[in-house]
Amino acid sequence: MKNKARKLLIAGNWKMNLNSAEGAELAETIVSQVGTQMEVAVCICPTFTSLEAVAQKVVNSNIALGAQNMHFESSGAYTGEISAEMLRHLFANFVILGHSERREYFGETDAIVNKKTLAALAASLKPIVCIGETLEERESGQLNTVIETQLKGALAGVEPKHADQLVIAYEPVWAIGTGKTATPDDAEAVHASIRKLLTGLLGGEAAEKIRILYGGSMKPENAETLLSQENIDGGLIGGASLKAHSFTSIVESAIKLSS
Ligand code: PGA
Repeated sequence: MKNKARKLLIAGNWKMNLNSAEGAELAETIVSQVGTQMEVAVCICPTFTSLEAVAQKVVNSNIALGAQNMHFESSGAYTGEISAEMLRHLFANFVILGHSERREYFGETDAIVNKKTLAALAASLKPIVCIGETLEERESGQLNTVIETQLKGALAGVEPKHADQLVIAYEPVWAIGTGKTATPDDAEAVHASIRKLLTGLLGGEAAEKIRILYGGSMKPENAETLLSQENIDGGLIGGASLKAHSFTSIVESAIKLSS
């Protein structure tokens, strides 16, 4: 039985997959299968071009909409970028920030992730702030330092009052899209240390409210054991979120643990 103070959140990160028609179809199937349950929070994060079509499918359901990135400015001469307000206008509630792919391929730094986090919070979006170490960092004993640096960097200026809005995703980079998953014990150990860091940053009351998702090859076969860990409050799912049956099966595991 999970900690009732933190409703499990299962978020699908579709990455650069599915056009708007395909996205709408997948959203429709997800809504028909798990769109009315209330035990678990569910969010799907399509590409920008699919947001509107997916928004139309999830309206009036219990499935929330999220984006995969945003700019920190609210408008202006930033060709190719999208603001928090624009996402709110399409009824997005969540936004993934600082995903390791954005850090690796698009040069996002902790300082940029921090600006985006503050802008998302100011616009009443719920940021899903991603942190995680590479294999090299883990093997050279830098896990704790990397997690602490990324977390403190991303959350500078965030206040305890934002605890209900803020979501952290621990995604070990070596587990993303590789089929390799952190063992439930290893993941739980990192999640517990993240909560301790959050306590130091924002106080115990806020830290107890903040959801810490696990991401990195979560799938129907391993979801239940990962989600049953004390400090794992949900999942950020990439590959397995692109098929309705695997995504909803992870949601079902979360429901089972919550009821
Ligand atoms: P994965 O991706 O589930 O395909 O490993 C997770 C993520 O990158 O958010």
